[in-house]
Amino acid sequence: MKIEFEAKPLEQIDINTLVAYGFENAPGASGTVELLDDDLRSVIAEMNADRELTGKNYECTLIHRPTGLAAQKLLVIGAGKKSKFDEHHLRRLAGAAARHLRARGIREFAWLVDAAALEGYGVQAITEGLIIADYDADRYRTEKDGEKRIERVVLATDGAVPGPAAEAGLTEGRIIAEAQNFTRELVNEPSNTMTPGILARRAEEMAGEYGLECQILGTDEIREMKMGAFWGVAQGSSEPPRLIVIRYVHAEAPDSPVIGIVGKGITFDSGGISIKPAENMHEMKTDMAGAAAMLGVMRALAQIKPRAHVIAIIPAAENMPGGRSYRPGDVLTSMSGKTIEILNTDAEGRLVLADAITYAKQIGCDVLIDAATLTGAVMIALGNSCTGVFGWSQEWVNRILASADAAGERMWQLPVDDDYREQYKSLVADLANTGGRYGGAITGAMFIGEFAGDTPWVHLDIAGTRWTNEEKPYLAKGPTGAAVRTLVHLLTHLEP
Ligand code: BES
Ligand code: MN
Ligand code: ZN
Repeated sequence: MKIEFEAKPLEQIDINTLVAYGFENAPGASGTVELLDDDLRSVIAEMNADRELTGKNYECTLIHRPTGLAAQKLLVIGAGKKSKFDEHHLRRLAGAAARHLRARGIREFAWLVDAAALEGYGVQAITEGLIIADYDADRYRTEKDGEKRIERVVLATDGAVPGPAAEAGLTEGRIIAEAQNFTRELVNEPSNTMTPGILARRAEEMAGEYGLECQILGTDEIREMKMGAFWGVAQGSSEPPRLIVIRYVHAEAPDSPVIGIVGKGITFDSGGISIKPAENMHEMKTDMAGAAAMLGVMRALAQIKPRAHVIAIIPAAENMPGGRSYRPGDVLTSMSGKTIEILNTDAEGRLVLADAITYAKQIGCDVLIDAATLTGAVMIALGNSCTGVFGWSQEWVNRILASADAAGERMWQLPVDDDYREQYKSLVADLANTGGRYGGAITGAMFIGEFAGDTPWVHLDIAGTRWTNEEKPYLAKGPTGAAVRTLVHLLTHLEP
């Protein structure tokens, strides 16, 4: 999608459709509708009086042959309550307009940008909203929604010349939204086209394209390094595991912190011998969403080039039942030396992450952030629109929460506390890999934290947010790319 500024006066913007938004209380005299000429605004006010146009959230009304404009049509989109309006709502509005128009065969339109949006974070939000909205999970459909994709959007400023902040917003918004869509593409791949080996190849290709250093370790290295927990999960599949390591370094960044971003890369989670029920098992192709998020983050960092050192570490494996699978009751020795009794082979994510975290510390990471589709329990706690955040380091938890706020992603902290440790004690080993039904998201998180030790660590449980089965006006059904924008924000704003 091409997105470009046009600083011409509005009436000269020669395009099929121009989009403006207005608020619920006065859709004819608020929002960017205010920038339209008096006659046009009185038409909108009249439609409002007739209840044809209300300004309610995402309501779309097309007005043909709008007076005083070169555009053939004007789309007025409702912006809801003015008191609730911010750049995050602006992101969604732009997305909703794009999806509405594209469904009607319009592939080119102008989005009206007011002075406020030109100054702050507005242009970035609009750009992100447009690109995120234009994605559909249609790669394997012969009849594609993509045939209706948007080709070009003009950001019409009505004569105002976009300053450096606006130009930067356009550039960064594009990088971040494309990274998020890249993550969504990976998550959407079924497990037959997204094995650990293929995930590693995709990571290598991405790293090559953006000049990142990439290292892929296979079965022999994983076993030689005594990653017994990782290998325990991987051994049941005929698809060999991979450990993917990608480095982003900046010559002028301080030596510390080196931030390790660790993503759960289970390319299919059948549950193993503790097999899952058939219903919805197909959704477990998305159990590498944490890995995909970290690859998206690295892709964005390579382009934005912040002063930081970041290493992505991705343990990729398939969790399968079979004659070579690990069993309930087995005791695995992790890379750290800690032994783990397996009570449920479906609690595999924490096992692969345990060794990945030990490895991350060994190669010099002094802050750890992991993203994982770890537990069904986090979905019970927080539902599908909010990521669970866990960690002993309140400082880093706060940084994540602040970045989530800034990037427009919903995240919520859940507690970690020594009291819960009792739940995953084992009679025969140092730890058990499950902690029972109650507080399942917490004990899962804390199990991983046992391997982080004193290193500042934050865990993001994206099991609920990785995918949406509900279509939104601004977002297609399917993979969401959760956590990408938050982590990119964090890692590009480390310097005070
Ligand atoms: N990958 C699943 C968690 C999951 C569930 C992700 C639903 C996305 C949607 C994870 O490996 C798992 O199976 N967790 C178990 C843990 C339990 C056995 C302690 C769970 O949540 O039931
Ligand atoms: Mn599982
Ligand atoms: Zn899993």
